Formats: sequence, structure tokens, C-alpha cells
Amino acid sequence: MYSHEQIIENFTNIIIAPLAGYTILPFRILLRKLGFKGLFFNEMINPYEIKKARFNKLVFGEKDDPIGIQLFGGYGEGIYKNAIEKIREFYEFNLVDLNMGCPVKKVTHAGGGVELLRNFSEVHKILEEIRSTWKGSLSIKTRIGFNVEEISQTIEKLKTLKHYDLDFITIHFRTVTEGFTTPPHYDLYKVFKKELDTFIFYNGGMNTPEDIEKIKNEIKPDGIMLARGILGNPLLFKGEHMGLNEKLIFAKELVKLHKKYYGEQSLADTRKFMVYLFKGEVYSKSIREKCFAANTLDEYLSALESPYL
Ligand SMILES: Cc1cc2nc3c(=O)[nH]c(=O)nc-3n(C[C@H](O)[C@H](O)[C@H](O)COP(=O)(O)O)c2cc1C
Repeated sequence: MYSHEQIIENFTNIIIAPLAGYTILPFRILLRKLGFKGLFFNEMINPYEIKKARFNKLVFGEKDDPIGIQLFGGYGEGIYKNAIEKIREFYEFNLVDLNMGCPVKKVTHAGGGVELLRNFSEVHKILEEIRSTWKGSLSIKTRIGFNVEEISQTIEKLKTLKHYDLDFITIHFRTVTEGFTTPPHYDLYKVFKKELDTFIFYNGGMNTPEDIEKIKNEIKPDGIMLARGILGNPLLFKGEHMGLNEKLIFAKELVKLHKKYYGEQSLADTRKFMVYLFKGEVYSKSIREKCFAANTLDEYLSALESPYL
């Protein structure tokens, strides 16, 4: 178990975002092989699904550390407590994160993600309940607000969470209405830092080593959380670019591990990785088409051979 101090020290100052469908065990294994030592998150988990004994998201490796589990959903008495206790039976994770930033319907319809920014009293109930059973590291991940007019309200709300002893907060510096593509308001980092006076991971829009340098130089964040950028360039955490040949090797390893942990019949789930990984590469379309036509492991592996080079 990591202590609160170690969690920042050991996790370096770069962490990888929870990315539903992506930060699954095969991807984590490969990133760690590349040398990533920081904090990962499992895919987000709905604690109500755990209550219904649906454990399909709970796939962990032997030394899958450090790892956080991210939970999403509205408050229901005992629901979060039950989920944490149950997930611990599968794996002794290092941190619990509450999703307060996701705008997708699957999450908001469950009362979670950005819906919690609206129903903030539920956040208190959830964190209260989590703290009644979990003394380890705890964090939240949120956005700067629903829209630019509500940013100061978000700050005031977040200030009320001091007594839950959060190890850090991650903020995606876009509003809910801005979605995922507008440039993040990274200049607001300093405002949140000053007002909240806590450890804040900056998140949003870091896709290249140059983006990271810019963020580090201009706002000097406590730490950064990489998201889609790491899917397109798995060496981003080192500040390096991954070349096409290395990407092909990475993709082949990914499909092999996927078969190992999820079976050959689910290999189609790896196709979405190819979209991010090869985006912008000269042969992107051809690789994507071959992968999308593949069904067996052998077909995926030959789709990822490099006659392209
Ligand atoms: C495919 C995808 C899946 C995501 N899954 C999650 C998730 O499970 N939990 C979460 O808090 N955010 C999730 N996010 C949001 C990211 O963690 C991150 O906040 C967002 O992509 C902004 O960072 P970026 O601009 O560097 O990608 C997801 C985003 C994408 C694109």
C-alpha cells in the first residue's frame, strides 16, 4: 500500500488517464514494458454493476501497480462501499478515484460524471461513504465547469471537499459544453491552484512532446495526466515520438495480449486502438482497413506486418 506521500513521489508527475475501453490490462502491460512507472487507472467501473455481480471490468495483472480504480455513478446507500470491498477481493489497488468529469450519456444517466457537478450534495455522500471503508489514496477527476460562466461555482464547490483528505485532484481544463476538441483553458490552472491550494494534475490537449513542454513551461503544473495523446504515441510519457515500425510492433503485442486475456473472439475490440495509434501515419488507412477486415489473431498479425516500410 502506498502512503499519501509516496503516491505523489512514486507516481512521478505524469499519470495516465482512465480511458474506457483502452486502459485495459494489455495496454497497461505494454506501457509498463516501455518503462512507464507512474499511476494507471483501470477502466471506469459502475459500482451498481458490481452490486449486480458484473465483474467483467475487473481484469488485473500480477504486478499491476501502481493502479487506481475509477468509480462512476450517483449515490446509493452502501453501493460505493460494497464496490470497493468487492474490487479489493480481485486486486489490492492503490487508489480510488471518483469520476466527476465524464459527459457521456452512459455515465450521466447513471447519475455520475459531470452530473455530480450539478448534484454536488451527492459528491459529499459518496466521498463520506468511500472514506468510511477506504483509508488509502483518494482523488477526484473533474472538469472546470459546465460552461465558462460556471467556473467560479466549480471552484467554490471543490473547496468544500477539503476534509476528505484527497491526495490530489485531476482537472480536465475544458468545460462540459466544450466537449473534447476545443483548446483547453490551461491558463486557468493557476487560478484553480491558488484557490484550492492542493495537488492538481493538469489534463487536456497534450498530444505531442512539444505540447507537454509548453504546458510544463507555461503553467508549471504539479503533475500532468496524459489521455488520448498516449494512445497515438505510447512513448509520449518519455517525451519521445514512436516511429511507424515501433507502432506496428506495439500493435502486434497488443493483439497477442488481448487474445491472451480476453480471447480471440474479442479481438475486434483492438481495432479502435489502431485508429488512434496510426492516425496521421502515411499508411494509416491501409493498416486500419486490413485490421478492420481481420478476424483471427493470424489475420491481425499479418495486417500489421510491415510491407509498408
Ligand atoms: C475514449 C475515451 C475514453 C475516456 N474514458 C474516460 C474514463 O473512463 N474516465 C474519465 O474520467 N475520463 C475518461 N475520458 C476523458 C479523458 O480521461 C480525458 O479527460 C480527456 O480525453 C481529455 O484529455 P485529452 O485532451 O488529453 O485527451 C475518456 C476520453 C476518451 C477520448
